[in-house]
Amino acid sequence: MPDTRPIPQRPFLGFGLGLRTDHYHSVLEQRPAVDWFEILSENYMVGGGKPLHFLDRIRLDYPMAMHGVSLSIGGTDPLNADYLRELKTLIERVEPQWVSDHLCWTGVKGQNLHDLLPLPYTEAAVRHVAERVRQVQDYLGRQILLENVSSYLTYQSSEMPEWEFLDSVAEQADCLILLDINNIYVSSHNHQFDPLDYLHAVAPQRVMQFHLAGHTHQGNIIVDTHDQPVIDPVWALYAAAVRRFGAVSTMIERDDNIPPLSELLDELEQARRIAAPILKAPAA
Ligand SMILES: [Fe+2]
Repeated sequence: MPDTRPIPQRPFLGFGLGLRTDHYHSVLEQRPAVDWFEILSENYMVGGGKPLHFLDRIRLDYPMAMHGVSLSIGGTDPLNADYLRELKTLIERVEPQWVSDHLCWTGVKGQNLHDLLPLPYTEAAVRHVAERVRQVQDYLGRQILLENVSSYLTYQSSEMPEWEFLDSVAEQADCLILLDINNIYVSSHNHQFDPLDYLHAVAPQRVMQFHLAGHTHQGNIIVDTHDQPVIDPVWALYAAAVRRFGAVSTMIERDDNIPPLSELLDELEQARRIAAPILKAPAA
């Protein structure tokens, strides 16, 4: 049954960037007009040194969200207690607005495959992931956000579309969603579905953050490389997402081929220009 509860007041941080080492000095010297930064949690799960030095200084001036890649919430190994303990320590240091990871699995039998691998979209997988999310949330004492990953394969055992799987996990686990607009676009191309079907199926109550990023065509598939500017069809999908979900904190991810900060600030302005008139318009 569709979730028709009213959308709660969610914190709207505005328009942010992923904090990258290439930009540490520019951020401190220029204090750019970025509303918030998202940090990659694993980069700061260290005993000391430069990353934590810069993190602490930049945190003084900007709200932050934490984003991880190693939770392996869909995996079948037991949850990694050491990882969770380190994550909790970093949360206490950063005091982030929220903490996210991916709806995926990243390894098996203790081996980290260093990839965000999709799950079979089955009822059993929903129950499995939701139970693990509840364990994580109990341990951290807060709701987490799960992000939809881009994918390049599907499982014959899947019983539902990806958007239904994401929605069901969020509902059963009572967690929140980080909706990656580029990942929806990439997967819609790779698996031939309408990305608007995806947007319209996700419960607005659960969506706390958007990701935007660039990608690369490799033969018949698109790979989520995060090394290019956001393309026009993804901007168009972002506009549709703002129309559906309203004011959702948005950030641009660039992980490779990292340009000067000024280029990412221009890209962030484009997100503001797209969202502003939609958010000002009276609700339909
Ligand atoms: Fe993302």
